[in-house]
Amino acid sequence: MTDQNFLQQWNEININEPAPETEPSRQYYFMKKCKVLLEEKTQELGRKLTCCAVTFGCQMNAKDSEKLLGILENIGFVATESEDADFIIYNTCTVRENANLKVYGRLGYLKNKKKKNPNMMIALCGCMMQEPEVVSKIKESYRFVDLVFGTHNIYKLAELLYQRLNENKMVVDILDGTDNIVEDLPAERKYSFKAGVNIMFGCNNFCTYCIVPYVRGRERSRNPKDIIREIEALVADGVVEVMLLGQNVNSYGKNLEEKITFAQLLQEVEKIEGLERIRFMTSHPKDLSDELIEVMKHSKKICNHMHLPVQSGSDRILNRMNRKYTKEHYLNLVNKLKESIPNISLTTDIIVGFPGETEEDFLETLDLVEKVGYDTAYTFIYSKRTGTPAAKMENQVPEDVVKDRFDRLLKTIQTISKEKTYAYEGTDQLVLVEGVSEHDSAYVTGRLSNNLLVHFKADSELIGKLVNVHLDEAKGFYYIGHQC
Ligand code: SAH
Ligand code: SF4
Ligand code: F3S
Repeated sequence: MTDQNFLQQWNEININEPAPETEPSRQYYFMKKCKVLLEEKTQELGRKLTCCAVTFGCQMNAKDSEKLLGILENIGFVATESEDADFIIYNTCTVRENANLKVYGRLGYLKNKKKKNPNMMIALCGCMMQEPEVVSKIKESYRFVDLVFGTHNIYKLAELLYQRLNENKMVVDILDGTDNIVEDLPAERKYSFKAGVNIMFGCNNFCTYCIVPYVRGRERSRNPKDIIREIEALVADGVVEVMLLGQNVNSYGKNLEEKITFAQLLQEVEKIEGLERIRFMTSHPKDLSDELIEVMKHSKKICNHMHLPVQSGSDRILNRMNRKYTKEHYLNLVNKLKESIPNISLTTDIIVGFPGETEEDFLETLDLVEKVGYDTAYTFIYSKRTGTPAAKMENQVPEDVVKDRFDRLLKTIQTISKEKTYAYEGTDQLVLVEGVSEHDSAYVTGRLSNNLLVHFKADSELIGKLVNVHLDEAKGFYYIGHQC
């Protein structure tokens, strides 16, 4: 939403009247109500109250956290990175067991902080909260938590907070699913020059290992007009790169009344003046169309990179995973991509130790990795998620065997990605400068179209700009360079 629309919404709301029924007006009403209460608290304490969002999991959650912070800042909180904040929100992930364990561990530590700061409030939201057993556990053993809500109602943060400020007990609000997409709420962006943009929510694929369809609900595409409007507003606000987000962007538009494909959406986004770079994730191989490859081939803005999760190289395992493609189909796609888009960078996700995976199956995965020659691959040890079909499958692979395969896979991937990185040494590349280097403040860090990073000596004034950089030296997974 533009600043003007926002101001109009905000000014039109009268908090002495009953709450509006329609969204997003209802949420602006509660933001304004909370703001009054927060101002009283600020007066009482003689200082501003702070908020902090801690994000676990994927880009979807990162985007949701920006929306949560946008709401909190409108209410009057000052955002901070510190977990000493007065309002702390954990936006959780449950894709693998260890993501859950991390949250429980950190809650124990927050309990002590809350004892020291009586104004502190703790909110939990995100994918983990969509699991009934998690919510029961929190209600029972973590009674100091103030707010619990799920993935379908993050837009309701102000309303839930208002409820919490008026009654002295934990507020829990979880929806099983939704058809609702609430547009036009504020967001506090982490970067001034790049932004994630949701194009769809949820997932219909039900890969047998994966909990995402259960916690994020059915696939819902956003209206293309709303997407374009959001990107135009972002560009007007200084954004030069967008990342279009969805669990399976290649099936974008399928449930919209007015049919539109992902490739057609990309063409519309490409037309936006002032936008320089377009990225997207994630692509499911079963829905990757020739139309998309064609659009990428002719685009001046879509980055030279495709994240194409394969999960396994064995047809038998792919079938048991319900991925709906074979190794051969995947390799054909890769060949088409490489032929149409020279030097395209390919990255992937791989699961090791899926139930029933034999040494033979694993060797198929290694073979595929070598044939594709990924620039990077993210590898995961299979994690059993209660409620998914794979959790009930027999022949869960012993831990030591999985560990051994994982190490072998990692070695193979590292060798290949190193070679890939060295191939660009000595070339000039256009990079988007993203920030001051973490290692040396005389350097800045930029990102290439293929997603790799380069560090080079320059002033921080270049942040958010596209510049040409000579890649002097490949350092494994990044480069050292100098501005041309
Ligand atoms: N929608 C995306 C991926 C979302 S989850 C896609 O289909 O590609 C990100 C990655 O987590 C997946 O690609 C998969 O490799 C991994 N993952 C999902 N569930 C997992 C599980 N139960 N155990 C281990 N890894 C898992
Ligand atoms: Fe999970 Fe498969 Fe959906 Fe990706 S496509 S989110 S792996 S169910
Ligand atoms: Fe995790 Fe939810 Fe994303 S489970 S990976 S945060 S969709």
